[in-house]
Amino acid sequence: MKPLVVAIDGPASAGKSTVAKQIAKDFNYIYVDTGAMYRCATLLAERNHLAFNDGKAIVEVLKNGNLTFRQEADGQHVYFDDEDITLAIRMPEINAHVSEVASLEEVRHYLVSLQQAYGEKGGLVMDGRDIGTCVFPNADVKIFLVASVEERAERRHKENLEKGIPSDLEQLKVDIARRDHLDETREISPLTKAKDAILVDTTGMSIEDVVAKIEGIMKEKEE
Ligand code: DC
Repeated sequence: MKPLVVAIDGPASAGKSTVAKQIAKDFNYIYVDTGAMYRCATLLAERNHLAFNDGKAIVEVLKNGNLTFRQEADGQHVYFDDEDITLAIRMPEINAHVSEVASLEEVRHYLVSLQQAYGEKGGLVMDGRDIGTCVFPNADVKIFLVASVEERAERRHKENLEKGIPSDLEQLKVDIARRDHLDETREISPLTKAKDAILVDTTGMSIEDVVAKIEGIMKEKEE
């Protein structure tokens, strides 16, 4: 069986990472959360007191360390050098600035090059906003996951509470709609469905059903 490159794109909280992780586990593939990479860039900008629009300076600090994903007993963790930043990159301060940092050409250029390096051998599930359009335009499977703003806010709210992250449902709805708008209207690699991506609306669907649907599409490609 040929190891595939699977691109899963879509707006914030459409269920991309939950679904992508499960598929990676079932197929023994690598999972790469590209949103976490833009979040790491934002965290470094904040800690180093850089302007959130200073792409050049942000790339400098990114290049000074190693951004890695490590599999641990409770799931995948994100590290910058030896620091576990998994929780720090989910804080409200990072949510507030990540769209701006993700709109910077220098930052996108650098992070996309890291993402493409992960995919060289295939056997990879990558989620984000521009994976099927820009990072892997030749991905074997391209999925575009969507869900209503209300349902996405409720999912993220539940997730936050489980992780012990402060959360306000109404504020989340506003934030998600704002981030959708920023992600869809930015100049470089805006969030958009690749022509050949398969649209999956997960509103009202269980995680298991979404996973089964995508795995069915993958199995057809593998044959
Ligand atoms: O999926 P997420 O919420 O962790 O993503 C964080 C931000 O990064 C979001 O505003 C969109 C942006 N992003 C992007 O521009 N391109 C990607 N491939 C992944 C995320």
